Amino acid sequence: MPKPREGDSVLNPGAAPAEETADRALRPKTLDEFIGQDSLKANLKVFIEAAKQRGEPLDHCLFYAPPGLGKTTLANILAREMGVNLRTASGPILERAGDLAALLTDISEGDVFFIDEIHRLNAVVEEALYPVMEDYTFFISTGKGPAASTLKLAVPRFTLVGATTRSGLLTGPLRDRFGIVAQLGFYGPEELRRIVLRSSGLLGVPTDPAGADEIARRCRGTPRIANRLLRRVRDFAQVGGGGRITLEVANHALAKLEVDGEGLDPMDRRLLRAVVEKFDGGPVGVENLAIAVSEELDTVTDVVEPFLIQAGFLARTPRGRIATAKAYEHLGLKAPRRALDLL
Ligand SMILES: Nc1ncnc2c1ncn2[C@@H]1O[C@H](COP(=O)(O)OP(=O)(O)OP(=O)(O)O)[C@@H](O)[C@H]1O
Ligand SMILES: [Mg+2]
Repeated sequence: MPKPREGDSVLNPGAAPAEETADRALRPKTLDEFIGQDSLKANLKVFIEAAKQRGEPLDHCLFYAPPGLGKTTLANILAREMGVNLRTASGPILERAGDLAALLTDISEGDVFFIDEIHRLNAVVEEALYPVMEDYTFFISTGKGPAASTLKLAVPRFTLVGATTRSGLLTGPLRDRFGIVAQLGFYGPEELRRIVLRSSGLLGVPTDPAGADEIARRCRGTPRIANRLLRRVRDFAQVGGGGRITLEVANHALAKLEVDGEGLDPMDRRLLRAVVEKFDGGPVGVENLAIAVSEELDTVTDVVEPFLIQAGFLARTPRGRIATAKAYEHLGLKAPRRALDLL
């Protein structure tokens, strides 16, 4: 997923490098601390309990969700709840089957092996992973030509946890080898409010419920952004804000950060404006849209668009993206009939 860059919006859901440490302090450690995603949590509790009773590792799990919704957090929690070690890798760093073999030798019975960005595994590594996932066997080919042979290596039984931002990016055969496949959705205002209040408690900053609500409303349904906005609002509270996150302080800080009342940033507004003004409201293909706003295609599809669609500003049709009446209204424009029909 495209990582935020210097000068990027405060609403980019990816983790900025320096932010990961700060994030970790706020990261829930148990399923009970993990807020929201209730049905997934309830299911995981059953799967964990059952696996423990049988004395087996948990089935392989695949989590897919836009950035910042809790995939890495859940991988950590699973290891902790199962009482095992967590080993971590990511799709792009596993270049050769040998890289995978090296990591697998480090695994003990029952461990959780987490592969982030699993959709970015190359074909060779992915194919080497299939027999490992199926029956914990790793095949190594040695030699070339007539002298070539294949060695069979037994790997301890473990749980593979994969994370990806879009399930559509995964090949069918890889996806089919996961016993548990779960999608995490954007969080609702009530859950985000609890996340903000939990985090402000951990940070030790007094926060009014109305201040927390305001942050919750404007964080694009994403816990990572909620925590980031909270840290920035805390700065405004501390410097000239009386030390407390009130509704006024939150409103003032969010305005300074250019996060508008719907939680959109200048990039979102630029994108919506492009659909409306340059493409007559759409439909427009996402490639053309990315060019029109001078952004990378990945950033538009993975970062900007999912929330705009989920929040009802943009609609996806087979012929391209369309601005909804809500988008026109938000930009202070009169919606054409076409957009109203979409409601
Ligand atoms: N359900 C939750 N309850 C409380 N806090 C959460 C929850 N989910 C995520 N967070 C917070 O949001 C931060 C980001 O979550 P996480 O790193 O797990 O996202 P991710 O889905 O792995 O994102 P990426 O795709 O960028 O890797 C966590 O450090 C944690 O502080
Ligand atoms: Mg992650």
